[in-house]
Amino acid sequence: MFERSCWILFFFGKILVCVHGWGPVGHATVVRLAQSQLTPEGLERIAPLIPWHWNGNLSAMASWADDILYSDANPTGYGNWQWSRPLHYINVPDWNCEYRPERDCINDICVAGAIRNYTKRLETEWDDIQQREALYFLIHFTGDIHQPLHTGFVSDRGGNSIKGHYMNGSYLTNLHSLWDSGMITTRLRRDFGSNSTLYYEYIHKLMLEQSPQEDDNTIDAWVKDNVNIVCTQIYLDENNHTMNASTNFTLGEAYYNRSISIIERRLAQGGRRLGIILNRLANKRPIKPDDKDKTLCTSTIVLIAVLAAVCIVGVVAGVILWIRYKKRATQSISFNLARKT
Ligand SMILES: *[C@@H]1O[C@H](CO)[C@@H](O)[C@H](O)[C@H]1NC(C)=O
Ligand SMILES: *[C@@H]1O[C@H](CO)[C@@H](O)[C@H](O)[C@H]1NC(C)=O
Ligand SMILES: *[C@@H]1O[C@H](CO)[C@@H](O)[C@H](O)[C@H]1NC(C)=O
Ligand SMILES: *[C@@H]1O[C@H](CO)[C@@H](O)[C@H](O)[C@H]1NC(C)=O
Ligand SMILES: *[C@@H]1O[C@H](CO)[C@@H](O)[C@H](O)[C@H]1NC(C)=O
Ligand SMILES: *[C@@H]1O[C@H](CO)[C@@H](O)[C@H](O)[C@H]1NC(C)=O
Ligand SMILES: *[C@@H]1O[C@H](CO)[C@@H](O)[C@H](O)[C@H]1NC(C)=O
Ligand SMILES: *[C@@H]1O[C@H](CO)[C@@H](O)[C@H](O)[C@H]1NC(C)=O
Ligand SMILES: [Zn+2]
Repeated sequence: MFERSCWILFFFGKILVCVHGWGPVGHATVVRLAQSQLTPEGLERIAPLIPWHWNGNLSAMASWADDILYSDANPTGYGNWQWSRPLHYINVPDWNCEYRPERDCINDICVAGAIRNYTKRLETEWDDIQQREALYFLIHFTGDIHQPLHTGFVSDRGGNSIKGHYMNGSYLTNLHSLWDSGMITTRLRRDFGSNSTLYYEYIHKLMLEQSPQEDDNTIDAWVKDNVNIVCTQIYLDENNHTMNASTNFTLGEAYYNRSISIIERRLAQGGRRLGIILNRLANKRPIKPDDKDKTLCTSTIVLIAVLAAVCIVGVVAGVILWIRYKKRATQSISFNLARKT
């Protein structure tokens, strides 16, 4: 049942909304950026793991890890995936402004640990389903870890409990959602005619302008960058007052202006770094236990042959014995008959 619903999801891919991590636009942008960076070897490694019906479009799977968590996107199987929920983020103590893995990512159960885990699994698990699952998690979590509020404060659940109004909207939103998608939506509408392809092209240009950094290979450094952004920008309102769950914020133009460039830098970094990770996988392929299979196969064949031989010998011996017995019986009957007459 678990397996089947998981495959149904793999086949229909993602359909619905997502509330966790960058919105669909952010996640798809990160993955599309990464895919644009693939070497021929990287593409050859990744392409067979993309569901065939997406025609090689890996970004269509970018929000899969979110979709499986919700009953509207995954009506029958979402309960089976709840274990993966803590892998989308890291909680740090309020205003501690420091990331300490041994405190904030115990047993690697956090987004940084999950990236390590699924990279490793892609390198070592040869099973096709494991490979796919690991890839879809990896492309999503590399997006999540570049959304700075995925390293937010523990008491407000990464800004989810900090509510308020944005751009004079009448409805209540929350800080986390603004960073996931609210401000990206504003940007798309204002400057890109809500065309996410045009937006992708813009972020792609930003990505090409970024120079490679030492940090590109250090996951914990990405988290430290987040914590820095969190403490110096995200939790400060337009008057530089701290925001928390017991006050309603009013954020608009000024907050958007100072945040959107951070968001776009992070999207570009996420895409660039995911590209590096995926290309590196081309050189680290899991070893299929072919040889083991062969020896297993050979020994099985030998066993079958021996059993068959034993069987044949047994049957032949049985037939011979039976014929002999029959013969003797007939002889003795005829002997008896002969005696009676
Ligand atoms: C790939 O998938 C993304 C996300 O679903 C979608 O926005 C995009 O249009 C697709 N691209 C192509 C070329 O189909
Ligand atoms: C690693 O991946 C496996 C398989 O999906 C999962 O059960 C486990 O919880 C993951 N561990 C971490 C630390 O992400
Ligand atoms: C929000 O309302 C204020 C006051 O009416 C106005 O000055 C501001 O331009 C509005 N902001 C937006 C984004 O509409
Ligand atoms: C978005 O922009 C791209 C690139 O210019 C264009 O090909 C596409 O038709 C546009 N999509 C929509 C819905 O306007
Ligand atoms: C908030 O702090 C930043 C950085 O210290 C400063 O540049 C900005 O002018 C301050 N804004 C207000 C409204 O005080
Ligand atoms: C919440 O923020 C308000 C305004 O910045 C501040 O007055 C209040 O002390 C804060 N509350 C907590 C629990 O930090
Ligand atoms: C925040 O806004 C909501 C809805 O408008 C309201 O119910 C609540 O009392 C407000 N909280 C504060 C602290 O102002
Ligand atoms: C935000 O940036 C835009 C464009 O750069 C500018 O026109 C606008 O005045 C800025 N608004 C605020 C409140 O800083
Ligand atoms: Zn997520």
